Amino acid sequence: MPRSPSSIVFWAFVLLTSGVGGFLGYIYSGVYDISATKQHTPLVYWILSTARRQSVQSHASKEPPPLDLANADVIARGLVLFENHCLQCHGAPGVAPGVIGLGMNPSPPNFAQMGRDLSAPEMYWSISNGIKLTGMPAWRFRLSEDERWALVAFLKSAPKLTPAEYRALRPGRTSARMGGSNAPDSEAPWEREGAVQRGRIAIGQYACSTCHFIPGIRGPDAQVGPPLAGIAEQTYIAGVLTNEPAHMIEWLRHPQRVNPLSAMPDLGVTERDARDIAAYLYSMR
Ligand code: HEC
Ligand code: HEC
Repeated sequence: MPRSPSSIVFWAFVLLTSGVGGFLGYIYSGVYDISATKQHTPLVYWILSTARRQSVQSHASKEPPPLDLANADVIARGLVLFENHCLQCHGAPGVAPGVIGLGMNPSPPNFAQMGRDLSAPEMYWSISNGIKLTGMPAWRFRLSEDERWALVAFLKSAPKLTPAEYRALRPGRTSARMGGSNAPDSEAPWEREGAVQRGRIAIGQYACSTCHFIPGIRGPDAQVGPPLAGIAEQTYIAGVLTNEPAHMIEWLRHPQRVNPLSAMPDLGVTERDARDIAAYLYSMR
């Protein structure tokens, strides 16, 4: 028997109110884990990244940039601004982000991946206004319009820089890094879960997915370095070390010592974290 329109409205109303009620109950229960060591659920990650992309696209100006973005002086000015204000979160070729940028969730995109899909005005809009709920600051009250465009000019000119070229350009600072700890953290829930699980958490906290696609780690599908899906079966690590656990640990801790020309920076990975990350990488068979 076909339902009358009023009974459809009634059941839609019941469903909607119970859905909203359930959602509010979930929020109030405190079950949702806001810890930055936990990955976003697929739904939340999708909502955040889609909202960001769509919002930037629709808000950015359609006008062409007011400065010549290919001008060498403008680009040089952008480099200094980048070192002072952005490097700590976004890193640079061969240079790891500072400790703030490594502990964030979502991780700030790596330098070489930054704005790959953004036009110059979209990049300018993101820098000027920041990105809510991610930790990306708004810069319009701290940097002039010219300075923000200089940053765009630098970023648009730079993704093809090698680490050696970047070292030759930069004003000559190296970032100071705090040491991590190898001791078990008695309060951490993953201490009970074994090396593979702990390695997965560590991968998030060293922001590896800002450069690599790694199965099981939610991130931006970055292509700065090779995808690590088949790493367990590979003959060599980074083309220079034979693939065995001790070499993997050495590579993860000191890539710049193994190959000073590599774009993978020393991230300050501790011995224990490297062991657990290696356990995770070898578990992906
Ligand atoms: C405190 C850390 C932090 C600092 C400092 C910072 N950013 Fe960001 N930035 C982020 C995060 C986090 C995101 C967004 C990550 C996401 O949405 O997944 C972001 C996103 C961006 C994006 C958008 C990238 C894209 O591909 O969508 C641009 C462009 C950007 N930042 C430029 C800059 C510039 C230029 C500076 C320096 C003036 C800067 N950021 C300083 C954390 C930071
Ligand atoms: C700034 C970008 C960047 C970050 C961050 C980064 N890597 Fe890399 N990684 C690279 C690049 C580029 C290569 C290729 C290096 C080479 O062959 O010299 C690489 C190579 C590797 C390799 C060897 C891959 C192969 O196919 O032989 C492994 C394993 C690896 N990275 C793991 C990690 C892990 C784990 C982390 C986090 C602790 C990490 N990387 C962080 C850029 C990065």
